[in-house]
Amino acid sequence: MYYKINTYGCQMNVHESERLAKTLEELGYTESKDDNFDIVVFNTCCIRDTAEQKILGHIGKLKKIKRANPKLIVAVVGCMSGQKGKSEELLKKYPFIDIILGANNLEELKNAILTLQNRHKKTILTPDDEKPEVLENIEYTRTSMPNAWVNIMYGCNNFCTYCIVPYVRGRERSRKPEAIINECKTLIESGYKEITLLGQNVNSYGNDFENNEIDFATLLEKIAQIPGDYRVRFMTSHPKDLNEKVIDIIANYDTLCKNIHLPIQSGSNKILKAMNRHYTRENYLEIVKKIREKMTLCGITTDIMVGFPGETEEDFEDTLDIVSQVQFSGAFTYIYSPRKGTPASTMEQIPYEIKSKRIQKLIKAQNEITKKLSRTYEGNVYRVLVEDTKENGNLCGRTDCGRLVTFCGDKSLIGTFKNVLITASQSASLFGTITEEK
Ligand code: 5AD
Ligand code: SF4
Repeated sequence: MYYKINTYGCQMNVHESERLAKTLEELGYTESKDDNFDIVVFNTCCIRDTAEQKILGHIGKLKKIKRANPKLIVAVVGCMSGQKGKSEELLKKYPFIDIILGANNLEELKNAILTLQNRHKKTILTPDDEKPEVLENIEYTRTSMPNAWVNIMYGCNNFCTYCIVPYVRGRERSRKPEAIINECKTLIESGYKEITLLGQNVNSYGNDFENNEIDFATLLEKIAQIPGDYRVRFMTSHPKDLNEKVIDIIANYDTLCKNIHLPIQSGSNKILKAMNRHYTRENYLEIVKKIREKMTLCGITTDIMVGFPGETEEDFEDTLDIVSQVQFSGAFTYIYSPRKGTPASTMEQIPYEIKSKRIQKLIKAQNEITKKLSRTYEGNVYRVLVEDTKENGNLCGRTDCGRLVTFCGDKSLIGTFKNVLITASQSASLFGTITEEK
């Protein structure tokens, strides 16, 4: 019996698919490497309409396959399935779906499969439970050695007016610090070299504990003190919550990567207010200044949105201006996409042509910055974690500050740290050779 998992969206989803894989393997399934499978799971995303449309297209393609093989189990799980009214819509359009689970019901996959097999009954489970219990001792089939993801918290309390996440993932719930630290220790002892801590807003870690026993900075410091040769990243930080304590701890420990993902979304104070972001462009620039005072070479990456309702040409110019001031080492850029049930979806929308022009201009501006910054790496040596192979036998890995480097070397080096001399760059990509130099 073979399984296939199709994962869409963020790293949280990629990690949760490792959990789904474990569940399926416990039930006797093996991962399919081709088009031959007995169960297919769509682990979905709904952050933008483009994500949803792509997934719906892929589910639609199964109609014929399911007709030819009625025993095929089709499960649709995760964020998209958990939206209000979505399960009814999905079943109406694709009546062949057997299992639907929201992002907070993934632990039900095993029961859902058994119920289908033993009682020929579908499971549709997307309850409106905003604060489900935090489960510990979840097992994963990890496939990303030497990198491992560790979830530190679930959900989000921020309700940015454009965002669907709080509706489909519920309120913030932090995992117990001991459980997180033990998981990190075990991963490091078993050879993982890079741990990425995951949460929608990692800086509010611990805010839901009654006695304020721990905050994100303290958790980070405890993880950084675990003995071993490894490094730690984390995402995502919210500019309203990233404080000096966290910045100091990152600066103090070599194990903590000098790389912060800090979504700005917009450079206009008017738009930031309408987005319910709780910071101004001045606040953002102040944090950037603090980061760079403590860590000159810290990479700062961001998410930026264009075309939020009410965004004028002047507001967009403010975004271009802050992009130019901050000099992000990378930016994920998005066209605002109205999401049903969020406040911004009922505001007056901006025509697509304007959004499209703005994003092109923004991408061009950021590309020029990325290219210019890439050139500053040439001729210098960086410590790189060898992570994977590339086409034509090359290896690739990332510097501490998050830049991707391609270089020659043997596959056996994957999972080791090497010093790499950067010899050339092209847009966001760096190229180099392994060296003994430091
Ligand atoms: N439309 C476009 N982009 C969005 N994001 C979140 N919601 C939307 C939306 N409705 C972006 C934000 C966020 C990233 C993960 O996705 O920039 O930081
Ligand atoms: Fe969405 Fe804002 Fe929460 Fe991020 S912080 S998940 S953008 S609501």
